[in-house]
Amino acid sequence: MDFSARREAAKQGRDPTLCDEALGCIMRIAREVHASRYLEIGAGEGYTAIALANETGVEVTALERDPVRCEALRKNAAECAAGPIHILEGDAGEILPLLEGPFDLILLDGPKAQYRRYFPDCKRLLKRGGFLFSDDVLLFGWVRGQAPAKRRMLAAHLREYLALLEGDPDFSTQIYDYGEGFAVSKKL
Ligand SMILES: C[S@@+](CC[C@H](N)C(=O)[O-])C[C@H]1O[C@@H](n2cnc3c(N)ncnc32)[C@H](O)[C@@H]1O
Repeated sequence: MDFSARREAAKQGRDPTLCDEALGCIMRIAREVHASRYLEIGAGEGYTAIALANETGVEVTALERDPVRCEALRKNAAECAAGPIHILEGDAGEILPLLEGPFDLILLDGPKAQYRRYFPDCKRLLKRGGFLFSDDVLLFGWVRGQAPAKRRMLAAHLREYLALLEGDPDFSTQIYDYGEGFAVSKKL
């Protein structure tokens, strides 16, 4: 199966890969700012990271906790990536504080309940003029509307995260309705 067919299949998975609109948005901005370093938190099997590396030439650091997905990411990178993919296997909460920036672009696509906790490291690691992308910030309309009882806590975490992001004077944020909500935040 070629890379685009694998990526199409991954859109139907349990933790789907980024939608086309969000991926296109990152690619466009990567070209506009001549990005050279990209960090993805929750890289899954690498479909976004590899597509970005191949289309824009960015050097990718991909952080993923799940060992099975990490193995698939290594295989996909070896078979399909044109550029270097640095794969860090482990918990983002433990690895992020150890990383050194600056990165031009960061995609936050790991555990939604942890976005708020990861934000200070994302801010530290991002260079001025760089972009932080946060996926799934509206989550089925639960964040701005009513969430089912089982999901209220998760929706509350994302609501707090958006308040933090939108209230931070060092960032300018826009939220798009791509997928389950995609926040694009420029570090000023
Ligand atoms: C939505 S999927 C990622 C999709 C990927 N970004 C893409 O666009 O193809 C979310 C990923 O976050 C990973 N994840 C969950 N908790 C994590 C953690 N604490 N640290 C690192 N990765 C984590 C999951 O294993 C899963 O692969």
